[in-house]
Amino acid sequence: MGYTVTVVAPVNIAVIKYWGKRDEELILPLNDSVSATLDTSVMCAKTSVSAAPEFTEDVIWLNGKKESFSNKRLQNCLREVKERAAAEGSVDKNFLSWKVHVCSENNFPTAAGLASSAAGYACLVTALAKLYKVKTDVSSIARLGSGSACRSVYGGFVRWHAGSDPSGVDSIATQIASSTHWPEMRALILVVGDSKKKMSSTKGMKITTETSELLKHRIKHCVPERTTEITKAILARDFPKFAEITMKDSNQFHAVCLDSYPPFVYLTEVSHTIIELIHSYNEICRETKVAYTFDAGPNACLYMLESEVPKIFKIIKTIFPSSNPTKFISGLPINDADV
Ligand code: DP6
Repeated sequence: MGYTVTVVAPVNIAVIKYWGKRDEELILPLNDSVSATLDTSVMCAKTSVSAAPEFTEDVIWLNGKKESFSNKRLQNCLREVKERAAAEGSVDKNFLSWKVHVCSENNFPTAAGLASSAAGYACLVTALAKLYKVKTDVSSIARLGSGSACRSVYGGFVRWHAGSDPSGVDSIATQIASSTHWPEMRALILVVGDSKKKMSSTKGMKITTETSELLKHRIKHCVPERTTEITKAILARDFPKFAEITMKDSNQFHAVCLDSYPPFVYLTEVSHTIIELIHSYNEICRETKVAYTFDAGPNACLYMLESEVPKIFKIIKTIFPSSNPTKFISGLPINDADV
């Protein structure tokens, strides 16, 4: 007889971007990052994990496609969960020796710069931890799958502290504030393109870390101050400040991609049209009402307060009348249901 556990995990969208690693194996970042965790009702990852004595090998199905479990990050996550379970004595040794079958799905475009790996690994690790009854913090294990995944384990507004210890003990995610702290906050996702990104985050970060002078400046002079300031803005529910820092940090992240050698670009013409549109809107409003941020892809995440959603929705629909090339995932609240 086997055992199965199913878990749903949310997407998180960074407002202070993680870009660059100080340790590639342990996935330790060069800088702190801050994100908001989105509601799971529209965008989420869903993972089922089974262990049974009759399974002959570890297998994973990603969005219905059978993939090899030889991926080092997957193996690191499974090994770490099993080691913790053994140390905690939460399940018997025999159970730990059984192979696992994993089935994982995203309900949004994978690898199109929509934080799919964050939700995916947070989900996988939480499911494994439940299966093996691991009690200690799973965020640091999720980090071994994909750095940004450590933030998806918490709801609300989350900070991933880069830390400085080579072992990674101090590289942990903590909650800045729960979603109930700022219930009017909304995220609007504009799906500009759903093709797989040309340059993976992992590879892009490596090139940037090795070649960009601007990244050094960003890490030393910009991120520490922005992290402090955006934390204050979140705690004070100061939207204009939150928005300004979010947009500046997104722009600087894409500037460091261009400052890398060879350079790479994630934004498209449509992304740039959205940037211009948001700046014009804020100018007309004489107040910063909306913020954009872009991860490693052309899709925009717009942060705004609830009262702004219908207006922005209407404007976007007028400018991009067909759902092609732009689709919307609308008005998501910040999620608080920790996985
Ligand atoms: C631009 O977490 O996907 O979304 O740790 O190599 O798996 P790896 O990278 P990943 O990078 C996310 C980069 C980002 C910014 C962010 O989410 O902070």
